[in-house]
Amino acid sequence: MTSIGTCLAQGSARLAAAGISGARKEARLLLAQATGFALETLIGYPERPVDDRPKYERLLARRAAREPLSHLLGRREFWSLEFTVTRDTLDPRADSETVIEAALARIADRSAALRIADLGTGTGCLLAALLSMLPYASGLAVDRDPAAAAIAAHNFVALGFGGRAQTMVGDWGEALSGKFDLVVANPPYIPSGEIGGLQPEVSVYEPRRALDGGRDGLSALRRVIAGLPALLAAGGTAVVEFGDGQGVAVAGLIVDAGLCVVARRRDLAGRDRCVVCESR
Ligand SMILES: C[S@@+](CC[C@H](N)C(=O)[O-])C[C@H]1O[C@@H](n2cnc3c(N)ncnc32)[C@H](O)[C@@H]1O
Repeated sequence: MTSIGTCLAQGSARLAAAGISGARKEARLLLAQATGFALETLIGYPERPVDDRPKYERLLARRAAREPLSHLLGRREFWSLEFTVTRDTLDPRADSETVIEAALARIADRSAALRIADLGTGTGCLLAALLSMLPYASGLAVDRDPAAAAIAAHNFVALGFGGRAQTMVGDWGEALSGKFDLVVANPPYIPSGEIGGLQPEVSVYEPRRALDGGRDGLSALRRVIAGLPALLAAGGTAVVEFGDGQGVAVAGLIVDAGLCVVARRRDLAGRDRCVVCESR
């Protein structure tokens, strides 16, 4: 029987050969997934035998074919919360934490009973992160894809927000009635022609509907931003994520919608990542 140490050495060599950076760490996570061993065991007891090697080999083969690690593990962390992810949901990105920081920076009273809308919720990561910081807030999460909406609903319950988060299938804010103190949205914003050039983890395995922003990348942003005035309560705030180089166009869409830009936020890499806007 092969030992933990041998499995890790062979697995990380295989992943590195497939062009995966952080191959050793990923091999360890896949071995933990296959065997049920804790990470501490994998690190502390390299001589221990592994009896479910075929399962580990299958996971390695899928990862070497560039299936995302999150899909193999079935989970991904965002804002220190763990989300179930599937092929129907965009993997939450650390860059999107900028949206949460920007929204929280505009909230004067975190104990207020705020109403939040999350347009294009995917895993529900934006709404769940906000609910984790705003204990009396409640929210409505919308996604066009019923499978993504179902995952979001599952995540809200699993994270303990089931009583404060509602999920619905819909076309951005069109079916929503009522007004919201905070609207967050991370619409698809990659120009259609650029998707094929992204790494396979994204272009092959992530849902096209979560990525594709049309010819210029702005199709969904146009619709989301045009719908904001109807959704925002008096004094309400919207925070919208956008892609690299889209800041000027997005600011123009906000002004065209009759709103004003109050801030733009950069992500950890220093790129403009989201815009904060309010009614005039
Ligand atoms: C970029 S992903 C963002 C997911 C999640 N909010 C996040 O930040 O990780 C965009 C999401 O919008 C959803 N979507 C696309 N078109 C939509 C539409 N017309 N109405 C509502 N949701 C839509 C997609 O299914 C996808 O879940």
